[in-house]
Amino acid sequence: MKHILVAGASGALGRSVVQQLLNSGAKVRVLHRSSNTLSAGTAGVQTEKVLADLTRPESLRGICDGIDAIISCAGASMSMKRFFDRSSFTAVDLNGNSALLQEAQRAGVRKFVYVSVAGEGPYEATEYVRAHRQFEQRLAASGMAYSVVRPAGFFTFLAEIFVMAQQGRGFIIGDGSSRTNPVHEREVAQACVAAVDRMETMVQAGGPEVFTRRQIVELAFTVAGRAPSITSVPPALFRTMTAPLRIINPRIHALLAFGAAVSTADAVVPVYGTERLEEYFRTLSGTRVP
Ligand SMILES: NC(=O)c1ccc[n+]([C@@H]2O[C@H](COP(=O)([O-])OP(=O)(O)OC[C@H]3O[C@@H](n4cnc5c(N)ncnc54)[C@H](OP(=O)(O)O)[C@@H]3O)[C@@H](O)[C@H]2O)c1
Repeated sequence: MKHILVAGASGALGRSVVQQLLNSGAKVRVLHRSSNTLSAGTAGVQTEKVLADLTRPESLRGICDGIDAIISCAGASMSMKRFFDRSSFTAVDLNGNSALLQEAQRAGVRKFVYVSVAGEGPYEATEYVRAHRQFEQRLAASGMAYSVVRPAGFFTFLAEIFVMAQQGRGFIIGDGSSRTNPVHEREVAQACVAAVDRMETMVQAGGPEVFTRRQIVELAFTVAGRAPSITSVPPALFRTMTAPLRIINPRIHALLAFGAAVSTADAVVPVYGTERLEEYFRTLSGTRVP
């Protein structure tokens, strides 16, 4: 039985990875940085739990001992709502994962699966994507067996669009004509788990349907049973409006800068998933998004 460490186990993707590993019969060790998420639990008593913070390398000592493979879904928060979480993408996604890689090498871990981000376009210049790409390079240079999983945007990341549509509000940056194929995080988790035993160093994971950004918002209105009411914000105005956040919360500023860049350029990724966005929005119907 394989013994797998999951970093970022409390995140949108990490929770699904843990569940699927347990379903596959693997032995799972979960890394949490907070005792709050640790006690809330990701998978009851069936996992081993370690408390560590990727930005404090000393806390990682020993956490990889006895581990065959690591799946790292850890990165600075993707949530706009966690206003007091200021850890940057460079600090967590690049430097934190680098510290984890070092500890994995010390412990003789066989394989490192890293969840990065897909796409090639102007948005590669943003801090968010740069941090992922730089860690990909460090991983490739490490000499360790590895797979990089590059997903499109997760369905869960679009949940807020559905909530807004239920409230009769829609919002796009620019004219909404750029295209993308979001993917269900459950299917990205499948790709991560499969990668543990595969040779491919690069796995692209897009969803089955390509939408324009405007079509995604319109679909949310359709499923919500509301007439579309969509406000378009010019990219330059959006950047001006969000500029003060650079000082107040650099992480949220970087996330919004990525959001503006990626939603005004095509980001179509080779297809991996089969689940449809309309079904996902339907499952959200009448529920509140966490
Ligand atoms: N969401 C998307 O649409 C999307 C698309 C493509 C790629 N990705 C990438 O996929 C990965 C997972 O995304 P996600 O949506 O699951 O993110 P998420 O929900 O924000 O989860 C991030 C995870 O990383 C953990 N973490 C953050 N800082 C940490 C630290 N200093 N030490 C240890 N753990 C730390 C978080 O723990 P806490 O619970 O304690 O915060 C959480 O478990 C990220 O690298 C993201 O950039 C996401």
